[in-house]
Amino acid sequence: PRVGIVVVAAGSGTRLGAGGPKAFVGIDRHSILRHALDGVFSAPSAQVVVVAPAGREGDARTEAIEAAGDRADLVTVVTGGTTRQESVAAGLAALWGDVEVVLVHDAARALTPPEVFSRVIGAIDAGAAGAIPVLPVIDTIKRVSGDEILAAVDRSELAAAQTPQGFRRDVLDAAYAAAIDDFTDDAALVAQAGHAVSAVPGHPLAFKITTGADLDRARHLVGADTA
Ligand code: CTP
Ligand code: MG
Repeated sequence: PRVGIVVVAAGSGTRLGAGGPKAFVGIDRHSILRHALDGVFSAPSAQVVVVAPAGREGDARTEAIEAAGDRADLVTVVTGGTTRQESVAAGLAALWGDVEVVLVHDAARALTPPEVFSRVIGAIDAGAAGAIPVLPVIDTIKRVSGDEILAAVDRSELAAAQTPQGFRRDVLDAAYAAAIDDFTDDAALVAQAGHAVSAVPGHPLAFKITTGADLDRARHLVGADTA
């Protein structure tokens, strides 16, 4: 396929504190990873690389095969690293030769709607080297030093970055090959390599499940019985 989607699911989920890797925590009868993969497989045909925690590759494969349906032959599972960046690099190394556009997606953004994937792919197809979904920042933001307020920050210049983040494959491969610092997202790494990254509208449902409150919200949204 022309599109490859790297789903990073190798994190430990420290802040969620569910006693095991976050990707396998249930929202309803389906895990965070399974919900994320349902969104991924609703996109047009793509190679899907799932980056799993060490020791959980088999579980990740089972979930991916179930989500893939008749597209199981498009699934690859690899082992992640100790940082997100290492996990993405492991996923990129498993992409097939014909992939030209790469989306990197957090499994933790389990409820991301299909239209966000389409918007990102559309921006790359329209000529962007990279494109990421963003949402306006709601809170008033201050620059602080300890307990001292230094300045207000103009909110109109700020946006919250989500995933899937999409890139031309050659651009992302080169940026990863050159990366030294640890970046928190792929767009920062590609920008550091000198490429312009465009913004497309994100979606409130693409929020990242990070804390217990986020998981509660996800459960409420899918109508899970949390009683
Ligand atoms: N991730 C990964 N490999 C890592 C760290 C993170 O694949 N070494 C993935 C996570 O699985 C998640 C995404 O990157 O889908 C965003 O990371 P985050 O929300 O921080 O998840 P965790 O690192 O698992 O959570 P925490 O930071 O609370 O431990
Ligand atoms: Mg983390």
